[in-house]
Amino acid sequence: VSPSLRHASIDWSQDTPFARDFDDIYFSRDGGADEAIHVFLRQNRLPERFSTLQAGNGFTVVETGFGTGLNWLATMDLWQRQASPGWLHYVSVEKLPLAPADLLRAHACWPAFTAFANALQHRYPPLVAGFHRLVFPEWRSTLTLFFGDIADFLPRLEARADAWFLDGFAPDRNPEMWTPALFTGMASLSKPGATFATFTAAGSVRRGLAGAGFAVSKVPGHGRKREMLSGSLALRQAALEIRPDRGVAAKPWLQRLQPELAERHACVIGAGIAGAQTAHRLALRGWKVTVLERGLPAQGASGNPGAVLYPRLAPPAQALDNFRQAAWLLAIRELELLPPEDSPWHRCGLLQLLTGNHAEDAEKLPHANLPAALVERLCPEEASRRAGLPLQVDALWYPLAGWLAPEAHIQQLLRAPGITLRTQCAADRLERSGALWHVLGREGEVLAVCPVVIVASAHEAMNLKAFAHLPLQAVRGQVSSPRATPGSLPLATLLCHDGYMTPALPDGRHCLGATFQPGRHDTIVLTADHEENRAQLREASPALADSLEPVAAWTGRAAVRCQSPDYLPVLGPIPDRDAFLQAYAGLSDGKVMAYPGLPVLPGLYANLAHGSQGFSQAALAAEILAAELDGEPFPVSRKVLDSLHPSRFWIREIRRRK
Ligand SMILES: Cc1cc2nc3c(=O)[nH]c(=O)nc-3n(C[C@H](O)[C@H](O)[C@H](O)COP(=O)(O)OP(=O)(O)OC[C@H]3O[C@@H](n4cnc5c(N)ncnc54)[C@H](O)[C@@H]3O)c2cc1C
Ligand SMILES: C[S@@+](CC[C@H](N)C(=O)[O-])C[C@H]1O[C@@H](n2cnc3c(N)ncnc32)[C@H](O)[C@@H]1O
Repeated sequence: VSPSLRHASIDWSQDTPFARDFDDIYFSRDGGADEAIHVFLRQNRLPERFSTLQAGNGFTVVETGFGTGLNWLATMDLWQRQASPGWLHYVSVEKLPLAPADLLRAHACWPAFTAFANALQHRYPPLVAGFHRLVFPEWRSTLTLFFGDIADFLPRLEARADAWFLDGFAPDRNPEMWTPALFTGMASLSKPGATFATFTAAGSVRRGLAGAGFAVSKVPGHGRKREMLSGSLALRQAALEIRPDRGVAAKPWLQRLQPELAERHACVIGAGIAGAQTAHRLALRGWKVTVLERGLPAQGASGNPGAVLYPRLAPPAQALDNFRQAAWLLAIRELELLPPEDSPWHRCGLLQLLTGNHAEDAEKLPHANLPAALVERLCPEEASRRAGLPLQVDALWYPLAGWLAPEAHIQQLLRAPGITLRTQCAADRLERSGALWHVLGREGEVLAVCPVVIVASAHEAMNLKAFAHLPLQAVRGQVSSPRATPGSLPLATLLCHDGYMTPALPDGRHCLGATFQPGRHDTIVLTADHEENRAQLREASPALADSLEPVAAWTGRAAVRCQSPDYLPVLGPIPDRDAFLQAYAGLSDGKVMAYPGLPVLPGLYANLAHGSQGFSQAALAAEILAAELDGEPFPVSRKVLDSLHPSRFWIREIRRRK
């Protein structure tokens, strides 16, 4: 796997982009948009199929070769004109993403698509390998772009396609793409009856598709092209029969199946950043959501005065399957889209000082393969210039990072239509009756009744019976809020060492953090913890630490994080523990057999254990859950999904019994 990417090399001849790498054009001189409509939209019968979708239905298009995004633009144009109440999910792969300037130039050819083109340009991901999820709630649509080779994409994709757009360059110019693996991969990722269309009529493509189970027809092509191919999956085999390595058959204990629901109504327990993001994304998709919060929103771990969105970029070998990297990129992309007036997001850039362990980390970091727009190594002079203060060490500079005002952001998320927030309302027990969960309070009063419950109450989830055996740990932490002084006020960026310091917040105080005390639940602010935060800062910058007032004058806030043993969130369906231990007991001897499907408690989900990074992680975590509940293409690879699955700990427990 090579995660190093580069932009496409393009020659422009008037308005026609020519790919130097493939010796071919991106779109036809005879009218690229008309060709896209004729070949991909009409031959996949999208106008008819879009018009029959109901609210709550999704439609998934998978494309090979995103290029300029012309096919996506044309599809979006049709989608919007049809005003379907469903959701459109468009997934595409691109090995050589266009540079933003080339994208802009190509888009200028199609003024009719300007609204979609502008939206894409604003959200266009940086040159980072792997999945990037772009959400367009205003058009009830998602775009999932995978930057990398199709050979890395297909085995990672978790989706069921309704329609395929096969649009790599011509098979004789790009034989590496048109392989048997492409055709069998398509069949395994298709819904029964899925359709395909491609501009080519090459015999090798026709035979490959037919061999993988597609009924293939030659139909008239566009413009000067006499013929093209279209058709549908003839065999009614489900993906899992064709690809035993996928999902159920391989590791049933990590299964994620879309639940069958009579009503799209969920109860979310907890109104921190995890609960708020979950509620928000479901509400955008038309779910009715009841949020139950024991106190008020953003008063648990999510209630600090400022949260840093600290970047976690992956080492090259893990870049395609890295939850933290994908989560951070999604979070900052979406925060950038918030209207600037009163935005809770402050992109001020972040300097990671290369002291102690960080100096070694920097050597391993993938920054050599990443664009400078994302991360760059700076000498002390340059770092000092960015920071606005003298610094003595090298630093990594993350220009896109920033800090967030948590409470304002969480309030905004919870204001989405469709969300009912009930505060001072603690969930004490969950009881299932028929297809519904009853969420009960301490006196047995019914707080909510609905088919889906998502528990986002951090470490307190363990008070609920079904969650009692999850290995969640409470970790106390304290942030300090010293007043800005003449010596600290010039700080213009986030400064990270073993801890972090924000520039002065609107209240005239910095946010300096954070202590880390596993196993402690107490939340009284302690002077000793202020001292610890100051000592950490002093190690990185003695002058800055000494410029602050004595700790006796500091204010602060302590709260409790929720952490899992592998530091990753716990996200997804909650199994029935007794049935689970019984179903997979054979794994303690490593027995190879056909294990049964995951015995879930139907409709019960977790979004927990965000540790020290909830503000970077919660958006993608919630997007994954929403995708799971609505049967959408997932925004991350199967490996990432597995790494977050609540069952992972219980399987490890069974294996340890050996
Ligand atoms: C000192 C400190 C500094 C941090 N700094 C950062 C940072 O800079 N950047 C960053 O990304 N992360 C940071 N974190 C981590 C981040 O705060 C957490 O990852 C994040 O807040 C977790 O969000 P959550 O929604 O899972 O939990 P919480 O915010 O704790 O929310 C859980 C909610 O559930 C409610 N609840 C609990 N039980 C019930 C019940 N029975 N019924 C109803 N409601 C219930 C609680 O009242 C609470 O509101 C920091 C954490 C600490 C402690
Ligand atoms: C004809 S162009 C696509 C046109 C595109 N659909 C559009 O609307 O602009 C083919 C695209 O496939 C990409 N591509 C070619 N081989 C690929 C591979 N092996 N993996 C992923 N993408 C590939 C090319 O970089 C190029 O952008």
